[in-house]
This record gives sequence, C-alpha cells and structure tokens, in this order.
Amino acid sequence: MRYENGSLRKEEYFYCRMEEVMKKAQVIIDKEYIVSSIDKRIYGSFIEHLGRAVYEGIYQPESPFADEQGFRKDTLELVKECNVPIVRYPGGNFVSSYRWEDGVGPKEKRPSQVDLAWQVVETNQFGLNEFTDWAKKAGTEVMMAVNLGTRGIQESKELLEYCNFKGGTQMSDLRKEHGYEAPHNIKTWCLGNEMDGPWQIGNKTAVEYARLAHETGKAMKILDPSIELVACGSSNSHMPTFGDWEATVLDECYDTVDYVSMHQYYGNADNDSASFLASSVDLDQFITTVASICDYVKGKHHGSKNINISLDEWNVWYHSNEADKKLEKWIQKPHQLEDVYNFEDALLVGSMLITMLRHADRVKIGCLAQLVNVIAPIMTSDTGAWRQTIFYPYMHAATLGQGTVLNTIVKSPVYEAKKHGEAPYLDCVVVDNGEKEEVVIFAVNKDLEEDMEVTLDLRQYAGYRVQEHIVMQHDDLKAVNTEADPDNVVPKSSGNARVEDGVLNVVFGKTSWNVIRLAR
Ligand code: AHR
Repeated sequence: MRYENGSLRKEEYFYCRMEEVMKKAQVIIDKEYIVSSIDKRIYGSFIEHLGRAVYEGIYQPESPFADEQGFRKDTLELVKECNVPIVRYPGGNFVSSYRWEDGVGPKEKRPSQVDLAWQVVETNQFGLNEFTDWAKKAGTEVMMAVNLGTRGIQESKELLEYCNFKGGTQMSDLRKEHGYEAPHNIKTWCLGNEMDGPWQIGNKTAVEYARLAHETGKAMKILDPSIELVACGSSNSHMPTFGDWEATVLDECYDTVDYVSMHQYYGNADNDSASFLASSVDLDQFITTVASICDYVKGKHHGSKNINISLDEWNVWYHSNEADKKLEKWIQKPHQLEDVYNFEDALLVGSMLITMLRHADRVKIGCLAQLVNVIAPIMTSDTGAWRQTIFYPYMHAATLGQGTVLNTIVKSPVYEAKKHGEAPYLDCVVVDNGEKEEVVIFAVNKDLEEDMEVTLDLRQYAGYRVQEHIVMQHDDLKAVNTEADPDNVVPKSSGNARVEDGVLNVVFGKTSWNVIRLAR
C-alpha cells in the first residue's frame, strides 16, 4: 500500500509508526475452559469498630442524613451502589478484646469500655443487632467474627446461640427480649482475627490457636451445623510463621473449618509506582501458596473436602500511617486510618480484584478492608458522603463480575519491578455471565508510559458486540477525590474497544482501568 514512489500514505505511515511503538498483548479464552463460578461473597467488605467506620460512617443519629434508626442514608446509598454481598463485623483487631454482650440490649444500660486494639473508648451504642438491621437495609449479609483473643468456646457458643438459635434458651430468649423474635441466621463465622500477630490481644502460637479454633468451631457446629467457619491464616505473607502457621492450624482444624483467611495490604511509601502496581504478582503467589497448603492438608487427611480461601482483609493501606501516630489516645471515633486514595491505588485495587477472580476456584470470600471512612472506598463528613478513587473498580467488579470466570490466558509483555520481580504490563480476566448472556472483561494496563494494543478472539461468542467500554484514567497517578472535588477521578464510557470479524480489538491507555461489556 505504498505510493508508486515507495513512500507511505499518511494513514499507513501512522499505522506503521504505531506498530513500531505500541506494545501488543493477546488475551485467549475458550468458553468451555472455566476456572469456577464466582461466589458473590468474593466482593465482600468489612466494618470494624475502628475510627469513624461505625460512628459517623454508618451510624450517626444526630446527623441530618440519619434515618429513624440513626443509620446514614447517604452511606447506605453508596453501599447499595456497590452491591456489597457480605460485610465482616465487628473486627479486626477490635474483636480480640470485645465483649459482644456490651453491645446488645437497652442503649442506656450499655457500658463504655476501653478498646485495647485501637486505644480508644468504645461506647457500645452500636452493636450486633444494630449491625444486622443495617445489613438488611444495605441488602448485604453479615459475616461475624468471634473473640478468640481474650475469650473462647463458651462466649462464642453463646454468641452463636444468641444469633441463630430459634428460642427457648437463655441466649435466644435474650435476643427476643431485645426485640429480635426471629434468629439472625448468620451463616459465615470467623474464628478470631490475625491470631498470629504479636500486636493482637491474646496472640497465640499456631498450636495454641489451632486447638482453640478447633474446639470452638466444633462446639459452634454442634449448635448450628449449617454455619461455615473461617480459621485464621497468616496476617500477611511476610509473617515469619507464614506457611507453618497454615499447615499447623489446618491440620488440627481440617474437619471443622471450611476456609482459611488471608489478609494482605500494599503501599507505595517508596514512591515506586512500577513496583507498587506489580503487587498483584505478589498476591497471586500468596494465593497459590495458601491453596497448596490447603491441598497438602487435605491429602494428609485423605480428605475429600477442599479448604478454600477467605481473603477477608485486602486493600491499599499506607497513606494514613504517619498521621495515625500523632492521634490522641482514649478518645471516641478519631479520624483513624483515613487513607485518601489516589488514582494509582485504584489501579492496584483493580489488579487485586482481577487476581482474586483468576483464583475464583479457591478464593470464595473477599473483604475489601474496609467500607466506610477507615481505609475505605466511601468517606463521610458532617455535610455528605463521597466516593474515593478505589470505589470504582470495586463497584464495577461487584456489579458486573457475576457468573463464571474463564481461564484467561494473557500473553503480555513484562517488566522487571524492583519489588516482586517480573510483572506483566497487562492484568486481565474474562467473566462469562451466562444468565445475562454477557461477557465482561476487566483489565489494567500497568504501563506507566505507553498504551497497549490488545486482541481477543471472540468467535465462540458469535454476534457479540461491545455494549460499553468503561475507562478510568488520569494524567496524574497521585490525583485524588475529596469532598470539595469528589469527581476528579471518575470512570467514563469512553473506550475504543470494537469487535471486527469476531475479534475484539482494543487499545488500553497507559495506566488505565478498563471494563468491557459484550453482548448480542
Ligand atoms: O483493617 C485494619 C486492621 O488491619 C484490622 O483490624 C486487622 O485485622 C488488620 O491488621
């Protein structure tokens, strides 16, 4: 297609230049090659009695935004927008010295207590019944944690009896006396929180925790065999006991528990964005290792049951670390862990969601930590609520990522990150929503400099066309949303994806979060 004199037409020249410059990647799927159906709980979140998560976040009776129960309606709206399927409660570190009985019954009789985990005063004006009411209004399920730090089998059994037993016993009748005739029927329960961490009140060795978790879980399942139990795994993959902890705990608890927890937070304190965005490689490795340990224990027990993963705390967390060191102690609802998230944080949150989905056969529960004000996608003040940057990839995945995950082969150029080593520029996963007859592609281009041309053969999906290509991109990786400027970083339906001859062609802009919806 050259002119007779051998020179290129203008558009040809442009195309060739693009060919030279633009990175290319290929995504390969087969509609029969399924990783797993998606457990909707993978898009869960977390509310802890910490900072302003409960008080001022979801509950503020004195606020003009409060409903008749004191719940913030503006927060509820944003939670519903995210379609949050399950919320873990009441902690976190908080749960390890919490007495759940302090938070039920007449509010005027509830005691104020010191919270040793966060060194604040807890008034107990909000407790488990308020939380179950709030969860109903938010259209979400409750995931309850029991205290295995300062307490044990008896208190956990009583809490379960209070929540799930039909009536005619001391605890179930107490619930009725408190105005809740029907049981709460909470299905998913955490056996403590981060019990491997020296910072945890009641920190234990793996052997000590394993015995307590097994005996507590055993008692709880005798009382209500319909529940599912999560044993504590390591607090993160860098814990010195990581690996041994999981093996020891699961060996003891194999018959009792259904999931092992994983917690993982990342930060960019060194301001090395390429490494920061490569953190999804680390998460991928972490999940693979924990799944292998689960399978080792299954094999050792000659078992038929898979232990799956509850990634019940994950996020970016580092922005607020310095400010938190200066906080006054033993006050109520301080501005604690109030990370203000920037655009690159949203990219990593997107990549972490993609990583979790790629492991949907093992990661059944995930909790973005947390939901409101505390390392959260949603922020509140006395004058309103707004969406942080990380709100968007979370909301997109939770609302559009339903159905089955396809085994998504990504042939992408790679780079060498200072931390985490080799990382692909492209993170991608394809979800087939059979019910809606829709295919959804989630993708992050982590390249700090260049756009990327991507192709995906879609011929098995005859007639499918691009319905929408949502893009979230910003020139400034450090751009944030604030109350004064809440829409500085927002997604737009502005992408260029198109299907031609059964092949999806798309250019993913440098450092961008992309969602492509395909249907007939
Ligand atoms: O989410 C904040 C804290 O992080 C949780 O309380 C704890 O479990 C983790 O260390």
